[in-house]
Amino acid sequence: MSTSSRSDPEGLHEFVCDLAHRAGELQLSRYEDPGTIREKAPKDIVTEVDLHCEELMVNAIRERYPNDAILSEERGGEISASGRTWLLDPVDGTANFARANPIFCACVSVLEGDAVTHAAVAAPRLGDLYHATLGSGAFRESPEGRSRLRVSDTERLEYAFFGADLAFRGSGSSGPRRVLSASWQFRALGSAGVRGAWLAAGYLDVSIGTRNTAWDYAPTVLLVSEAGGKATDLSGGPWTHASDGLVATNGQLHAEVLEILAEG
Ligand code: IPD
Ligand code: CA
Ligand code: CA
Repeated sequence: MSTSSRSDPEGLHEFVCDLAHRAGELQLSRYEDPGTIREKAPKDIVTEVDLHCEELMVNAIRERYPNDAILSEERGGEISASGRTWLLDPVDGTANFARANPIFCACVSVLEGDAVTHAAVAAPRLGDLYHATLGSGAFRESPEGRSRLRVSDTERLEYAFFGADLAFRGSGSSGPRRVLSASWQFRALGSAGVRGAWLAAGYLDVSIGTRNTAWDYAPTVLLVSEAGGKATDLSGGPWTHASDGLVATNGQLHAEVLEILAEG
Protein backbone atom coordinates (compact mmCIF):
# COMPACT_ATOMS: atom_id res chain seq x y z
CA MET A 1 0.00 0.00 0.00
CA SER A 2 1.44 3.39 -0.88
CA THR A 3 2.25 5.71 2.04
CA SER A 4 0.65 8.69 0.31
CA SER A 5 -2.79 7.01 0.11
CA ARG A 6 -2.59 5.85 3.74
CA SER A 7 -2.08 9.40 4.83
CA ASP A 8 -4.61 10.78 2.35
CA PRO A 9 -7.88 8.85 2.71
CA GLU A 10 -9.82 11.84 1.32
CA GLY A 11 -7.69 11.80 -1.84
CA LEU A 12 -8.30 8.08 -2.17
CA HIS A 13 -12.03 8.53 -1.74
CA GLU A 14 -12.15 11.30 -4.32
CA PHE A 15 -10.34 9.01 -6.73
CA VAL A 16 -12.83 6.18 -6.05
CA CYS A 17 -15.76 8.49 -6.81
CA ASP A 18 -14.08 9.96 -9.88
CA LEU A 19 -13.32 6.49 -11.24
CA ALA A 20 -16.95 5.38 -10.92
CA HIS A 21 -18.11 8.70 -12.39
CA ARG A 22 -15.78 8.40 -15.40
CA ALA A 23 -16.89 4.83 -16.11
CA GLY A 24 -20.49 6.02 -15.79
CA GLU A 25 -19.87 8.82 -18.31
CA LEU A 26 -18.42 6.27 -20.71
CA GLN A 27 -21.54 4.11 -20.27
CA LEU A 28 -23.73 7.14 -20.94
CA SER A 29 -21.81 7.98 -24.11
CA ARG A 30 -22.63 4.48 -25.35
CA TYR A 31 -26.24 4.33 -24.17
CA GLU A 32 -28.27 2.53 -26.85
CA ASP A 33 -24.95 1.59 -28.48
CA PRO A 34 -23.51 -1.33 -26.45
CA GLY A 35 -21.45 -2.67 -29.38
CA THR A 36 -20.74 -6.35 -29.76
CA ILE A 37 -22.48 -8.52 -27.19
CA ARG A 38 -21.01 -11.89 -26.27
CA GLU A 39 -22.55 -14.65 -24.12
CA LYS A 40 -19.56 -15.54 -21.91
CA ALA A 41 -21.61 -18.24 -20.16
CA PRO A 42 -25.24 -19.23 -20.68
CA LYS A 43 -27.40 -16.16 -19.93
CA ASP A 44 -24.34 -14.16 -18.82
CA ILE A 45 -23.46 -11.46 -21.32
CA VAL A 46 -20.66 -8.96 -21.75
CA THR A 47 -20.75 -5.96 -24.08
CA GLU A 48 -17.96 -3.97 -25.66
CA VAL A 49 -18.73 -1.21 -23.17
CA ASP A 50 -18.04 -3.50 -20.17
CA LEU A 51 -14.55 -4.05 -21.56
CA HIS A 52 -13.90 -0.36 -22.28
CA CYS A 53 -15.02 0.65 -18.79
CA GLU A 54 -12.83 -2.02 -17.25
CA GLU A 55 -9.81 -0.84 -19.22
CA LEU A 56 -10.40 2.75 -18.13
CA MET A 57 -10.66 1.76 -14.48
CA VAL A 58 -7.76 -0.67 -14.39
CA ASN A 59 -5.39 1.72 -16.20
CA ALA A 60 -6.27 4.59 -13.88
CA ILE A 61 -5.69 2.48 -10.74
CA ARG A 62 -2.41 1.04 -12.05
CA GLU A 63 -1.15 4.51 -12.76
CA ARG A 64 -2.05 6.02 -9.41
CA TYR A 65 -1.76 3.03 -7.05
CA PRO A 66 0.62 0.62 -8.80
CA ASN A 67 1.12 -1.61 -5.76
CA ASP A 68 -2.56 -2.34 -5.16
CA ALA A 69 -4.29 -5.59 -6.15
CA ILE A 70 -7.26 -5.49 -8.51
CA LEU A 71 -10.09 -8.00 -8.86
CA SER A 72 -12.43 -7.07 -11.67
CA GLU A 73 -15.31 -8.95 -13.21
CA GLU A 74 -14.12 -9.47 -16.77
CA ARG A 75 -10.32 -9.69 -16.29
CA GLY A 76 -10.29 -11.49 -12.94
CA GLY A 77 -7.34 -10.82 -10.63
CA GLU A 78 -6.78 -11.49 -6.99
CA ILE A 79 -7.37 -10.30 -3.48
CA SER A 80 -4.25 -9.03 -1.75
CA ALA A 81 -3.30 -11.01 1.36
CA SER A 82 -1.87 -8.02 3.19
CA GLY A 83 -2.53 -4.85 1.21
CA ARG A 84 -5.34 -3.10 -0.53
CA THR A 85 -7.61 -4.58 -3.20
CA TRP A 86 -9.83 -2.81 -5.72
CA LEU A 87 -13.07 -4.61 -6.58
CA LEU A 88 -14.45 -3.48 -9.92
CA ASP A 89 -17.73 -4.11 -11.68
CA PRO A 90 -17.27 -2.10 -14.88
CA VAL A 91 -20.95 -2.35 -15.87
CA ASP A 92 -23.32 -3.76 -13.30
CA GLY A 93 -26.65 -4.50 -14.92
CA THR A 94 -25.19 -5.41 -18.30
CA ALA A 95 -28.39 -7.18 -19.36
CA ASN A 96 -30.27 -3.92 -18.70
CA PHE A 97 -27.61 -1.80 -20.42
CA ALA A 98 -27.70 -4.01 -23.50
CA ARG A 99 -31.43 -3.21 -23.86
CA ALA A 100 -31.07 0.47 -22.99
CA ASN A 101 -32.93 -0.05 -19.71
CA PRO A 102 -31.67 2.88 -17.56
CA ILE A 103 -30.91 0.78 -14.45
CA PHE A 104 -27.17 0.09 -14.72
CA CYS A 105 -24.09 1.41 -12.97
CA ALA A 106 -20.35 1.24 -12.44
CA CYS A 107 -19.17 -0.12 -9.07
CA VAL A 108 -15.83 0.56 -7.41
CA SER A 109 -14.92 -0.71 -3.94
CA VAL A 110 -11.75 -0.75 -1.89
CA LEU A 111 -11.08 -3.69 0.38
CA GLU A 112 -8.52 -3.47 3.20
CA GLY A 113 -8.25 -6.78 5.03
CA ASP A 114 -11.86 -7.92 5.31
CA ALA A 115 -13.24 -4.39 5.52
CA VAL A 116 -14.75 -2.46 2.65
CA THR A 117 -13.35 1.01 3.33
CA HIS A 118 -14.51 3.00 0.29
CA ALA A 119 -17.19 2.43 -2.31
CA ALA A 120 -18.87 4.29 -5.14
CA VAL A 121 -21.77 3.35 -7.40
CA ALA A 122 -22.35 5.62 -10.40
CA ALA A 123 -25.73 5.21 -12.09
CA PRO A 124 -25.35 7.75 -14.90
CA ARG A 125 -28.75 7.36 -16.56
CA LEU A 126 -30.36 7.96 -13.15
CA GLY A 127 -28.07 10.95 -12.54
CA ASP A 128 -26.86 9.57 -9.22
CA LEU A 129 -23.53 8.73 -7.68
CA TYR A 130 -23.75 6.92 -4.34
CA HIS A 131 -20.63 6.69 -2.19
CA ALA A 132 -19.39 5.92 1.30
CA THR A 133 -16.24 5.80 3.40
CA LEU A 134 -15.98 3.53 6.42
CA GLY A 135 -16.96 5.53 9.49
CA SER A 136 -17.93 8.68 7.59
CA GLY A 137 -21.47 8.05 6.31
CA ALA A 138 -23.04 7.38 2.93
CA PHE A 139 -24.06 10.02 0.40
CA ARG A 140 -25.74 10.62 -2.92
CA GLU A 141 -24.45 13.18 -5.40
CA SER A 142 -27.06 14.25 -7.93
CA PRO A 143 -27.77 17.33 -10.04
CA GLU A 144 -29.61 18.67 -6.96
CA GLY A 145 -26.46 18.39 -4.84
CA ARG A 146 -25.26 16.13 -2.05
CA SER A 147 -27.56 14.38 0.41
CA ARG A 148 -26.94 11.89 3.19
CA LEU A 149 -28.31 8.37 2.73
CA ARG A 150 -30.43 6.86 5.47
CA VAL A 151 -32.10 3.44 5.49
CA SER A 152 -35.87 3.09 5.93
CA ASP A 153 -37.57 2.77 9.29
CA THR A 154 -39.87 -0.09 8.28
CA GLU A 155 -40.41 -2.22 11.38
CA ARG A 156 -42.34 -5.19 10.08
CA LEU A 157 -41.41 -7.56 7.28
CA GLU A 158 -45.01 -7.75 6.14
CA TYR A 159 -44.67 -4.08 5.14
CA ALA A 160 -41.22 -4.49 3.58
CA PHE A 161 -40.07 -3.91 0.01
CA PHE A 162 -37.81 -6.81 -0.83
CA GLY A 163 -35.19 -6.54 -3.59
CA ALA A 164 -33.42 -9.45 -5.28
CA ASP A 165 -32.74 -10.83 -8.75
CA LEU A 166 -33.89 -14.37 -8.38
CA ALA A 167 -34.27 -16.93 -11.06
CA PHE A 168 -36.63 -18.70 -8.65
CA ARG A 169 -35.13 -22.06 -9.37
CA GLY A 170 -32.19 -24.15 -8.27
CA SER A 171 -30.58 -24.60 -4.91
CA GLY A 172 -30.39 -21.54 -2.72
CA SER A 173 -33.65 -19.98 -3.90
CA SER A 174 -36.01 -21.45 -1.29
CA GLY A 175 -34.87 -19.14 1.55
CA PRO A 176 -35.25 -15.95 -0.50
CA ARG A 177 -38.62 -17.24 -1.75
CA ARG A 178 -39.82 -17.52 1.84
CA VAL A 179 -38.61 -13.96 2.54
CA LEU A 180 -40.50 -12.86 -0.56
CA SER A 181 -43.70 -14.49 0.68
CA ALA A 182 -43.33 -12.76 4.04
CA SER A 183 -42.76 -9.30 2.45
CA TRP A 184 -45.21 -6.81 1.00
CA GLN A 185 -43.67 -5.92 -2.38
CA PHE A 186 -40.89 -7.26 -4.57
CA ARG A 187 -38.38 -5.32 -6.69
CA ALA A 188 -36.11 -7.02 -9.24
CA LEU A 189 -33.93 -4.24 -10.63
CA GLY A 190 -31.32 -6.19 -12.60
CA SER A 191 -28.42 -4.40 -10.89
CA ALA A 192 -27.02 -5.47 -7.55
CA GLY A 193 -25.19 -2.14 -7.24
CA VAL A 194 -28.33 -0.03 -7.68
CA ARG A 195 -30.27 -2.38 -5.42
CA GLY A 196 -27.78 -1.86 -2.57
CA ALA A 197 -27.71 1.90 -3.10
CA TRP A 198 -31.51 2.03 -3.09
CA LEU A 199 -31.61 0.08 0.16
CA ALA A 200 -29.21 2.62 1.66
CA ALA A 201 -31.49 5.37 0.32
CA GLY A 202 -34.58 3.82 1.97
CA TYR A 203 -36.38 2.74 -1.25
CA LEU A 204 -36.05 -0.92 -0.27
CA ASP A 205 -35.98 -2.56 3.16
CA VAL A 206 -34.35 -5.93 2.43
CA SER A 207 -31.95 -7.14 -0.26
CA ILE A 208 -30.62 -10.66 -0.78
CA GLY A 209 -27.93 -11.78 -3.20
CA THR A 210 -27.14 -15.46 -3.50
CA ARG A 211 -23.96 -15.53 -5.58
CA ASN A 212 -20.30 -15.29 -4.69
CA THR A 213 -19.34 -12.16 -6.60
CA ALA A 214 -17.54 -9.74 -4.31
CA TRP A 215 -17.59 -6.84 -6.81
CA ASP A 216 -21.41 -6.94 -6.80
CA TYR A 217 -21.86 -6.90 -3.04
CA ALA A 218 -18.98 -4.86 -1.58
CA PRO A 219 -20.61 -1.47 -2.34
CA THR A 220 -23.87 -2.59 -0.68
CA VAL A 221 -22.00 -3.71 2.45
CA LEU A 222 -20.48 -0.27 2.98
CA LEU A 223 -23.34 1.94 1.72
CA VAL A 224 -25.96 0.12 3.80
CA SER A 225 -23.88 -0.02 7.01
CA GLU A 226 -22.96 3.64 6.69
CA ALA A 227 -26.63 4.52 6.09
CA GLY A 228 -27.61 2.87 9.37
CA GLY A 229 -28.53 -0.60 8.13
CA LYS A 230 -26.96 -4.02 8.41
CA ALA A 231 -25.17 -6.30 5.94
CA THR A 232 -24.02 -9.86 6.67
CA ASP A 233 -23.46 -13.16 4.92
CA LEU A 234 -26.43 -15.49 4.46
CA SER A 235 -26.01 -16.96 7.98
CA GLY A 236 -25.63 -13.67 9.79
CA GLY A 237 -21.81 -13.75 10.00
CA PRO A 238 -19.62 -10.92 8.79
CA TRP A 239 -19.64 -10.55 5.00
CA THR A 240 -16.26 -11.21 3.37
CA HIS A 241 -15.14 -11.34 -0.26
CA ALA A 242 -15.42 -15.16 -0.03
CA SER A 243 -19.02 -15.21 1.24
CA ASP A 244 -21.63 -17.13 -0.74
CA GLY A 245 -24.08 -14.26 -0.70
CA LEU A 246 -25.27 -11.17 1.08
CA VAL A 247 -28.23 -10.17 3.23
CA ALA A 248 -28.68 -6.43 3.66
CA THR A 249 -31.53 -4.79 5.52
CA ASN A 250 -32.49 -1.59 7.26
CA GLY A 251 -31.21 -3.27 10.45
CA GLN A 252 -34.60 -3.57 12.16
CA LEU A 253 -35.63 -6.48 9.90
CA HIS A 254 -32.32 -8.31 9.87
CA ALA A 255 -32.91 -10.91 12.58
CA GLU A 256 -36.32 -11.84 11.17
CA VAL A 257 -34.93 -12.26 7.65
CA LEU A 258 -32.03 -14.42 8.90
CA GLU A 259 -34.47 -16.56 10.86
CA ILE A 260 -36.54 -17.19 7.73
CA LEU A 261 -33.44 -18.01 5.69
CA ALA A 262 -32.32 -20.49 8.37
CA GLU A 263 -35.62 -22.39 8.29
CA GLY A 264 -34.73 -24.30 5.09
C1 IPD B 1 -25.51 -8.89 -12.41
C2 IPD B 1 -26.52 -7.94 -11.86
C3 IPD B 1 -27.79 -8.68 -11.48
C4 IPD B 1 -27.51 -9.81 -10.51
C5 IPD B 1 -26.46 -10.75 -11.08
C6 IPD B 1 -25.20 -9.98 -11.43
P1 IPD B 1 -23.68 -7.96 -14.13
O1 IPD B 1 -24.29 -8.21 -12.65
O2 IPD B 1 -26.05 -7.26 -10.73
O3 IPD B 1 -28.64 -7.79 -10.82
O4 IPD B 1 -28.67 -10.54 -10.32
O5 IPD B 1 -26.17 -11.70 -10.08
O6 IPD B 1 -24.27 -10.85 -11.98
O7 IPD B 1 -23.38 -9.30 -14.70
O8 IPD B 1 -24.68 -7.20 -14.90
O9 IPD B 1 -22.45 -7.20 -13.76
CA1 CA C 1 -22.54 -7.18 -11.40
CA1 CA D 1 -20.57 -6.53 -14.67
